[in-house]
Amino acid sequence: MKQDSLAPRFPVKNHPSPTSPEQRASLIADPGFGRIFTDHMASIRYSDTEGWHDGKITPRTQLSLDPATAVLHYAQEIFEGMKAYRLSDGSMALFRPEANAKRFNESARRMAMAQLPEEMFIESIKALVRTDIDWFPTVEGGAIYIRPFMFASEVFLGVKPSSEYQYLVIASPVGGYFKSGAPAIKVWSSQHYTRAAPGGTGAAKCGGNYAASLIAQAEATKHGCDQVVFLDAVERRYVEELGGMNLFFLFEDGRIVTPPLGGTILPGITRDSIITLAKEAGLSVSEELYSIQQWEDDAKSGKLTETFACGTAAVVTPVGKVASQNGEFTIGAGGPGQVTEKLKNQLVAIQRGEAEDRHGWVRRID
Ligand code: PLP
Ligand code: COI
Repeated sequence: MKQDSLAPRFPVKNHPSPTSPEQRASLIADPGFGRIFTDHMASIRYSDTEGWHDGKITPRTQLSLDPATAVLHYAQEIFEGMKAYRLSDGSMALFRPEANAKRFNESARRMAMAQLPEEMFIESIKALVRTDIDWFPTVEGGAIYIRPFMFASEVFLGVKPSSEYQYLVIASPVGGYFKSGAPAIKVWSSQHYTRAAPGGTGAAKCGGNYAASLIAQAEATKHGCDQVVFLDAVERRYVEELGGMNLFFLFEDGRIVTPPLGGTILPGITRDSIITLAKEAGLSVSEELYSIQQWEDDAKSGKLTETFACGTAAVVTPVGKVASQNGEFTIGAGGPGQVTEKLKNQLVAIQRGEAEDRHGWVRRID
């Protein structure tokens, strides 16, 4: 697979009939999550013969696909999730976009897809945000959620890596991820379904992982829960992650535990940032296996005081209850805990340019 160094320039073709300012204002006042979209999209095409080419910003529109397009049959597809934030000085910024670019290529490698030069990934996103900057939501805590994705676009039914790919970026003004707006979420531990096995695709952000998780998510919803907590596929004992977020466990003695990256969980960028911030705050963080039984015992004994989920969409969200077919248990008082709040506030303050960016995580969009 060829890797070109096409200068990342994205000519902009403006929407001929963009959303009116009045309609846009009403949409961005209460956007929810992932339901409304800006007027434009970024795209780049790839073929083994031409490399990456035809990068541009165009009006957001339907895709027209041949029914034999490879992705529709063998699900060779990956994506990323990131946000454009408004800094306290009014400018726009991305948070650690290089980490998303790297993870995108790691996912591409696992799914035998073409590598996208990192600068092309980042510039495509900046160009789209610049074009649709007026879509920044007015709701408290809002951001423009960015969804870069790539799929196998070769028209061919043989089972082999595609020789053509389509890369696209769409943008969605968002508020909070969880509809309920409850102070803490309730998670469902699925006894039947696992998310990822050793050697599988758990560390890749591919659509197939999410497709496989949906039956468990539906089970969670049926039991009044917000998310599924997946256990390891081998022993069915160790807590791995939620369907769309990583997990952290906080103890009364100041220790913090998070499941280790071992190929079966997504290496979250929020997870990595929280580990750094917690260590800086003098907390001892360890990446170690933690069983669901231990989680219940520690919550009941009071040794475990807080649990939170984290990710781009969910930011930092307290987990208040854990349910399964065997019953449920509550963590702490079932609401947000102090350490969780502190870590969340620190992270959000950096993302919004309100706290010093000691690690060079914030990338301004000029
Ligand atoms: N785990 C899964 C399965 C996810 O989908 C996500 C969200 O992207 C995360 C963890 C958190 O990753 P990040 O913090 O990079 O958004
Ligand atoms: C994200 O946090 O960006 C994700 O992709 C997770 C998904 C639940 C929206």
